[in-house]
Amino acid sequence: MSDPGGLKELQQGFEAAIAAADSEAALEEVRVRALGKKGEISQLMKGLGKLPPEERKARGAALNRLKGEIGALLGRRKQELRDAALEERLKTERVDVTLPARPEAQGAIHPVSHVWEEVVEIFADLGFSVAEGPHIETDWYNFEALNIPPEHPARQEHDTFYFHKREDGSRRVLRTHTSPVQIRAMETRPLPIRVIAPGRTFRCDSDQTHTPMFHQVEALVLDESTHMGHLKWTLEEFCKAFFETDNVKMRFRASHFPFTEPSMEVDINCSWQGGQVKVGEGDDWLEILGSGMVHPNVIRAGGHDPDKVQGFAFGIGIDRLAMLKYGIPDLRAFFESDLRWLRHYGFRALDVPTLAGGLSA
Ligand code: PHE
Repeated sequence: MSDPGGLKELQQGFEAAIAAADSEAALEEVRVRALGKKGEISQLMKGLGKLPPEERKARGAALNRLKGEIGALLGRRKQELRDAALEERLKTERVDVTLPARPEAQGAIHPVSHVWEEVVEIFADLGFSVAEGPHIETDWYNFEALNIPPEHPARQEHDTFYFHKREDGSRRVLRTHTSPVQIRAMETRPLPIRVIAPGRTFRCDSDQTHTPMFHQVEALVLDESTHMGHLKWTLEEFCKAFFETDNVKMRFRASHFPFTEPSMEVDINCSWQGGQVKVGEGDDWLEILGSGMVHPNVIRAGGHDPDKVQGFAFGIGIDRLAMLKYGIPDLRAFFESDLRWLRHYGFRALDVPTLAGGLSA
């Protein structure tokens, strides 16, 4: 085919430039060069008027065809580039709907709060409800009603924080244990009573395993027939669920508390490897709680008849449980509010412990 005026070469040049354009901006440059006001094809069309009429017709038709073809090519390439850019964006901007709602969230749940929730979850499953009492207690609830009269030696062991004497000579205390909630529960709840009372407790004491404020969970079961077998079963079930192993061995040691008779301290078996404690293996023993059958004087102080009702109580250190389960060595660090510590030992806010979903997940 003849090529009057070298249009074929021009066409090939533009076709190559269009194929090579790798962005919309580059493509636009090609368009301007070809079809813009001062573009090469536009210029050639302007020149048509100077041609003799017999050449003008054929040349005009050829230029129009060229203009149409280049225009169509530009349009197609533009669409290709747009599709590719969209594809690229879709790849990088994909939304992962399985991510947490706010992946940038910084907060963490303190191990004590987490263990507190775990404990409540386990006892709720065993039919216990949660009871509460105030941090500032009267001498009656913290001591007397629990069978600890004023000169009783147990008072010394409690390293009590006392408030100033009042005009009537009475002194309030920061509760030294959660046992006062036993009395409050007996006063306010109908039998049978099955409660736990997790909460803060205070003693004037501080070293690697003691802090002036710490946490306990109290349990009280009171009805007409609850006996020590029930106490033992309850503690075994609790330990298995909490430490998430069936291998926990428990040792009941005769002990003394003024508010229980008989009284037992309970140890669980553990091993120490490289300064790390592991529960449920090895043959070392670690004390985790105090327990016993509720003393008749305590039942009476709570407003019930010890000849008709009986039951058991125990008190566990929540912080101690957290140290054991999550291998946290120093109790003091629990309350120093060191962000690095919290980030390391903290739990994700959405990891609410449940028996069905896993406690420590
Ligand atoms: N109150 C006791 C303590 O703080 C623990 C305990 C509670 C013991 C209930 C027996 C029964 O050490």
